[in-house]
Amino acid sequence: MVLLAASVTTKSGKALVSRQFVEMTRARIEGLLAAFPKLLSSGRQHTFVETESVRYVYQPMEKLYTLLITTKASNILEDLETLRLFTRVIPDYCKSMEESDIINNAFNLIFAFDEIVALGYRENVNLAQIRTFVEMDSHEEKVYQAVRQTQEKEAKQKMKEKARELTKARQEASKKGRSPGFGSSSNFGYPPSPVVGDAAPTAPDTQTKQTYPTPSSRPTGTGKAMKLGNKNKDIDLFVDMLKSEGETVETTNAMKSSVGTKPTAQVHAESVHLRCEEKITIRAKRDGGLDSLEVHGIVTLNISDEKYGCIRIKIDNQDEKGVQNQTHPNIDKELFRNSHIIGMKNSAKPFPVNVDVGVLKWRFQSMDESNVPLLINCWPSENGSGGCDVNIEYELQMDKIELSDVEIQIPVQGNPIVSECEGMYEHDSRKNRLTWKLPVIDSSNKTGSMEFSCPGKASDFFPISIEFESSQSYCNVKVTDVFTLDEQPVNYSSETAFLTQKYEVV
Ligand SMILES: *[C@@H]1O[C@H](CO)[C@@H](O)[C@H](O)[C@H]1NC(C)=O
Ligand SMILES: *[C@@H]1O[C@H](CO)[C@@H](O)[C@H](O)[C@H]1NC(C)=O
Ligand SMILES: *[C@@H]1O[C@H](CO)[C@@H](O)[C@H](O)[C@H]1NC(C)=O
Ligand SMILES: *[C@@H]1O[C@H](CO)[C@@H](O)[C@H](O)[C@H]1NC(C)=O
Ligand SMILES: *[C@@H]1O[C@H](CO)[C@@H](O)[C@H](O)[C@H]1NC(C)=O
Repeated sequence: MVLLAASVTTKSGKALVSRQFVEMTRARIEGLLAAFPKLLSSGRQHTFVETESVRYVYQPMEKLYTLLITTKASNILEDLETLRLFTRVIPDYCKSMEESDIINNAFNLIFAFDEIVALGYRENVNLAQIRTFVEMDSHEEKVYQAVRQTQEKEAKQKMKEKARELTKARQEASKKGRSPGFGSSSNFGYPPSPVVGDAAPTAPDTQTKQTYPTPSSRPTGTGKAMKLGNKNKDIDLFVDMLKSEGETVETTNAMKSSVGTKPTAQVHAESVHLRCEEKITIRAKRDGGLDSLEVHGIVTLNISDEKYGCIRIKIDNQDEKGVQNQTHPNIDKELFRNSHIIGMKNSAKPFPVNVDVGVLKWRFQSMDESNVPLLINCWPSENGSGGCDVNIEYELQMDKIELSDVEIQIPVQGNPIVSECEGMYEHDSRKNRLTWKLPVIDSSNKTGSMEFSCPGKASDFFPISIEFESSQSYCNVKVTDVFTLDEQPVNYSSETAFLTQKYEVV
């Protein structure tokens, strides 16, 4: 191969995107690119410049250079022809020839560059051909995804083992220190979720990006179909995945240090900690209407200092939906019914220490679609030649709730071509799944849509499965105060989580 690399650089020789077609270290290509501007003699209009070892064929494009690095043995006329093709393909992906635009489209450019070379750059490849190939899953993307999945599986296995160890250790510890009273039913049959403490997933750190031929300037990755090169993002995805499988993951600050990631809710656990958790299960019909909607909520109390064993908790419930509630058998029912205060039936008896105690449960059921926090409307239209044009939209119906990490998973039978998408999407060709991802949905953007076309019939795009989480309560249950029996305030911490247990459009 006489073509060594194709690159886009700034006028000072900083690499924005560079695709190497032969083995070359990052230092070597960066060195070659940095040397290039110094070789240009001012005032003269050149199209190429040579050193002892290589030839640069280049074209200035506004504030940037597109350049090819070839061996000196290559045919200069062919090199120029190839350069012309490379420069024509760039405006196709980047509207403005700005640094940021190039970086944002780095992966599309690299795929396009590869197609020029793969299709035989000496022939006249047309731009439409390149575009088609770039939109298809590239082979390398598949390899990258496969490697990544294997690594994640291994890491998850490790974490599960660690979680099991920790749970076991905790069980043993609490066997020793458990006070009587709530006994083994303290959780109301809610299984304790394993807590993975500092077993931070290390695998994503060591993820071998090398398997993916990275461009020398690592793009900051807003490539549409795929996000690479952002470690924090990878960790986020990884952690989200674990969470979606019911693992409790605490991420350390070291992992999520830098900019761009959302702050993890660092709940400061006081000696008295309360957690309100709600899980929603929805089965919605594809043509509208509900099969079922059910929300289960629980307030758990965890006291770590026996000094605060005898306390009372004031609950505020501004629910208008008609939520059914139930207190733990050891809780004073009358007190709760009359004044929404949770306290022990036998007020002299303290709450158990260092265990999660479920004190209040509630349940809400409905067949009314207006109670669905996030409505999904998916509309596939068969196009008459074995494919479908699919329109899918979401609508946040409860403006008071902000949803985060929303994922809408649509089964697909072939390669979807996404023409419009608010947010991000990811196609997993092994799992035959198109995932539409929206980091945040709140009242400022209550609706959004995506459009794609894909082989298959209308019924192939169901069931759709939806996941989200929120730190606002669905049933509006809040802990408003904690105090001692003689009404002295007690410092406490609390957290609220509203999660999807299972949400399907069938
Ligand atoms: C508990 O249920 C009762 C009646 O069903 C209702 O009046 C009350 O507001 C509920 N309280 C809470 C905290 O859910
Ligand atoms: C209760 O909280 C303490 C301290 O915050 C913690 O160490 C313990 O693991 C918690 N217990 C459970 C069962 O989660
Ligand atoms: C129908 O959809 C399929 C799959 O996307 C596509 O290949 C085909 O060209 C479409 N046909 C028409 C007439 O749009
Ligand atoms: C929705 O709005 C929030 C807040 O303005 C923003 O952070 C988020 O990125 C928006 N989401 C989408 C999908 O536009
Ligand atoms: C609550 O916390 C504040 C600040 O941390 C402290 O000054 C105060 O004494 C605490 N109150 C009680 C009742 O522990």
